[in-house]
Amino acid sequence: MLARSILEEKSSNRKSSIGSYWITTFGCQMNKADSERMAGTLEKMGYSRALDEFKADLVLYNTCTIRDSAQQKVYSFLGKQVKRKHEFPKLKLVVAGCLAQQEGESLLRRVPEIDLIMGPQHVNNLENLLGRVDSGNQVVATEETFISEDITNARRDSSICGWVNIIYGCNERCSYCVVPSVRGKEQSRYPDAIKNEIINLARDNFKEVTLLGQNIDAYGRDLPGTKKDGSNAYTLTDLLYFIHDVEGIRRIRFATSHPRYFSKRLIQACYELDKVCEHFHIPFQSGNDEILRLMARGYTVDKYKKIIENIRLLMPNASITADAIVAFPGETEKQYQDTLKLINEIGFDQVMTAAYSPRPNTPAAKWDNQIPEEVKKVRLKEINELIDKISRQRNQRYLNNIESILIEGFNPKNTSQIMGRTRTNRLTFLEIPKNNKFNYSLGDELNVKITEARSFSLSGQIINE
Ligand code: SAH
Ligand code: SF4
Ligand code: F3S
Repeated sequence: MLARSILEEKSSNRKSSIGSYWITTFGCQMNKADSERMAGTLEKMGYSRALDEFKADLVLYNTCTIRDSAQQKVYSFLGKQVKRKHEFPKLKLVVAGCLAQQEGESLLRRVPEIDLIMGPQHVNNLENLLGRVDSGNQVVATEETFISEDITNARRDSSICGWVNIIYGCNERCSYCVVPSVRGKEQSRYPDAIKNEIINLARDNFKEVTLLGQNIDAYGRDLPGTKKDGSNAYTLTDLLYFIHDVEGIRRIRFATSHPRYFSKRLIQACYELDKVCEHFHIPFQSGNDEILRLMARGYTVDKYKKIIENIRLLMPNASITADAIVAFPGETEKQYQDTLKLINEIGFDQVMTAAYSPRPNTPAAKWDNQIPEEVKKVRLKEINELIDKISRQRNQRYLNNIESILIEGFNPKNTSQIMGRTRTNRLTFLEIPKNNKFNYSLGDELNVKITEARSFSLSGQIINE
């Protein structure tokens, strides 16, 4: 039964605990995946998961620095733990992730209470680093390093959907973006290692995998064997064909796609391969060619539109989501309007937006044509209103459809409901029928009639026995 399988304790190791740990994860899916691997390491070392952040013996913040607001949020969290450390000196304070990498030693000068500062490339080395802390050192691990193959058993938050890193780092140079400087050079994992991880997930009853990379279309280009025409010998498309036969896995997703490299072959593969879901997250960032050039994105608005057109030719109901930035340095009102126009034309299922935020060591931060805060606010509010309207309209296409929903758990805000997602990644809530004659559990795919469509989520009724 569902309730029991959800409440069932995961196979935690039973050796006596050497203390409790707490991890707060900021930022993107990449960081979430890293946190799960670090949690796995901590549990292997004998730490047990704390129920309260302020009672834990080890607190790890896996940080993000994509915008200034993300950075400030980390500092405010850290402040509270620093206070606690003064009363409870045994507390181990670990700052991992992108802000840790960006600040390095200088974070230690700012917050001398921290025991360990570690960049994203050192995630798989947590045990060693903590060993050095236990010997009485304050440790900063931010040097560029080759990421060792992942041998840790991640402590995953979901028991149904698993993240699988396929490429670390990013070699792009988008002029606004801090990621290449904090995540380092691209490093693809070998296809066999990826497939083995997926086979293990399937053995543990996982039903869905999401392949992760900051620029997932770059997968393979650092692997040995470049073709005569300069293209990489092994691509994301090849990988999709290679992993598709893993028995037990029913859904395959991937993120994040880059319009510069998104290929027709990839679209064809997504169409041909049953398990690959019809959802594409392809950030466009701006709807104006001049701004795209200044952002150093390497594509035009027309090229972007062509990609979406090609996807819709084969998969008319595919869901298309994206990221966009407003108020990039120098963005005129007309250029900003071009972004709104593109959103209207494409009809996105969802767009994640942000006002441009200057980041350390990025070219655009040094330009003297920054847009005033008031303008940023106005544009962000307006674009979000438009997206809300469009995504709500677009979600109406689900109404009265029968969708296959993969059950992931209870709705945390209303436990009389269970939740899952459509293949197109729409979150869907279902009432648990009163006379519960359905014998279903986590990881089942149920046929659901969609009865309500909002901008972020759907509601529906289970219709199969
Ligand atoms: N690799 C992905 C995006 C990673 S960062 C890509 O190439 O699209 C996630 C999103 O944060 C970006 O898509 C962008 O919209 C936003 N972002 C990145 N840097 C930013 C900055 N300096 N200010 C505002 N938003 C930013
Ligand atoms: Fe940043 Fe561009 Fe790399 Fe995406 S592709 S992570 S936006 S540098
Ligand atoms: Fe943030 Fe690093 Fe991800 S800066 S968005 S956590 S790659």
